[in-house]
Amino acid sequence: MKTPVLVINFKSYRESTGRKAVEISKLAEKISRETGIEIAVAPTSVDIVKVREQVSIPVFAQHADPITPGPYTGRINVENLKDWNIDGIIINHSEYQLRISEIDFLVKAGRANGLETIVCTNNIDVTRAVAEFSPDYIAIEPPELIGGDISVSKARPEVVENSVRIVERIDRNIKVLCGAGVKTGEDVKRAMELGSRGILVASGVVKARNIENAIRDLLKGMGEMDG
Ligand code: G3P
Repeated sequence: MKTPVLVINFKSYRESTGRKAVEISKLAEKISRETGIEIAVAPTSVDIVKVREQVSIPVFAQHADPITPGPYTGRINVENLKDWNIDGIIINHSEYQLRISEIDFLVKAGRANGLETIVCTNNIDVTRAVAEFSPDYIAIEPPELIGGDISVSKARPEVVENSVRIVERIDRNIKVLCGAGVKTGEDVKRAMELGSRGILVASGVVKARNIENAIRDLLKGMGEMDG
């Protein structure tokens, strides 16, 4: 993905699953084309192939299981995501936390299969630990702010700033994203000023009364930043 990037995590909300997943993805594609700012979407594993077929913006899986192809009922492996040209994987989201060895497995599997990896972290210590695996992105999301109305960039600016500093020290190629409670362009702007290269958002878009306006407002905070 190019940065700055807005990653919209659809989670399992009624407003962003089924046909709505495709609708929001098409809308995101239209807005991304118009503004020139990268937008990626992360639909459920049920909706992901349908979305992939309908849009050309980056499509990420919300999760993958740390397994190789084989006898694992109900699980999703990275090779299977690659089969359908999925661009990347969100790993270790606060709502789907994994063991450190599983995170390592998935970052390596992503790299081996050409999928980008976004590893979510809930605090600085976890950020420091997973930076050693050199994922493409680390997304810092304080769990207590997820789904709320106060953004990480306003409530916990030091977490974003310190994460950027620590990650830079370990591997300058990793891009730091942040998320949780991000609702406005102002929240986004503040996050970018703190060194974030993009935003991971869910409710601020999915639960908005007007999804198009919500996305456009968030992008205002990205303006014409790096490339
Ligand atoms: O993955 C994005 C996320 O956890 C943030 O959720 O609803 O606070 O934007 P939300």
